[in-house]
Amino acid sequence: MFETIKSRGIDQILALMQAFRADPRTNKVDLVVGVYKDADGKVPVMRAVKEAERLLIDEETTKTYVGMAGDPEYCGLVPKILLSEGSSALAAGRVVSLQTPGGSGALKVGSDLLNSIKPDQKLWVSTPTWANHVPVATDAGLVTDQYPYFRPSDRGLDFEGMMAHLDQHAVAGDAILLHACCHNPTGVDPNFEQWQSITDFVLDRGLLPFVDCAYQGLGDGMEQDVAGLRHIAERAPEMLIASSFSKNFGIYRERVGAITIIAKDPQQLATTKGAAETVIRSNYSMPPSHGARSVATVLASRDLSDLWSEELDEMRKRIADMRSALKQKLEERQVTRDLSFLTDQKGMFSYTGFGPEQVEGLRADHGIYVAKDGRINVAGLSSENLDVVADGFAAMLR
Ligand code: LMR
Repeated sequence: MFETIKSRGIDQILALMQAFRADPRTNKVDLVVGVYKDADGKVPVMRAVKEAERLLIDEETTKTYVGMAGDPEYCGLVPKILLSEGSSALAAGRVVSLQTPGGSGALKVGSDLLNSIKPDQKLWVSTPTWANHVPVATDAGLVTDQYPYFRPSDRGLDFEGMMAHLDQHAVAGDAILLHACCHNPTGVDPNFEQWQSITDFVLDRGLLPFVDCAYQGLGDGMEQDVAGLRHIAERAPEMLIASSFSKNFGIYRERVGAITIIAKDPQQLATTKGAAETVIRSNYSMPPSHGARSVATVLASRDLSDLWSEELDEMRKRIADMRSALKQKLEERQVTRDLSFLTDQKGMFSYTGFGPEQVEGLRADHGIYVAKDGRINVAGLSSENLDVVADGFAAMLR
């Protein structure tokens, strides 16, 4: 039976991760996968998380099942982080979060939920979007379509193109996937005014906003990064949010995410939550506990959450510093083209505009691994590798 299987190939980000590990060169540089690395090139465990884990080991009294929605304390904290304690939807009992295995788990539960409501549900995604968005959505039975987003000429947002395309093609009942902040892969985000226009359009047209929030805190700050998301959430009668603590808590392998549902009223919320639980039960039954308990333990303690917040500030600052440092190193190498995109784009990723030949040249000639579409993980840069990277990039850009 297995001989009939048609390989769909491995996801390009994960394939490059494997190729990097197998590369014997010692001065190789990994700018592929979106993980935060410190100045020493390590993917650190945050001190606040380490401390919470110590407490957990001491205090945990049972390993019994957590239930389909996951850890209740964690689920109660998520909407406050995403929407704020003052959210009117929260006060009206119209919001619920369910713990999921990472942001991908949340996207899958959200997509399965949409498919269970309406088979062949249309989901609009940006061009480009994260490499896993379309596979997750289509495997769940959704039909994806693309709206313009990135403008190669200035490596910025093609806002007019996006809105004109959606105006022409999106119809009531379609869902639209938006990135809350630090757009993956481009690092290009709408400004607040543009979020207001997107919100007006989405609501006027009767679209369902499905927001992916995987990088809160890595752009401008925990509050600033969700200003657009909060603007929609205050107004939309219904909404889905897929969120992740992988990046802002550095707990990638613990798989800590959530699907947050906003419904018209508490009664509809209960029904929708039940439908999401049905999806969860048949997918993976219930989420793992440790990572979510670690996050809840940090957030429940004033000292630990202050420490976490300081560490997150350091991470964000290092990313911003690396953006400026790379720009400066390229300028020093007489790269004359406009490099302001490096410091304008937000979060871990920068879309360099390198095509497939340049991406391959960087890997083969310089040992620099960047994603196939030219995306780099800025958090993979350090004073150790900046010169190697700048030399390689300069060679490609000249
Ligand atoms: C990325 O985009 O690099 C991360 O979100 C990791 C992944 O799973 O692709």
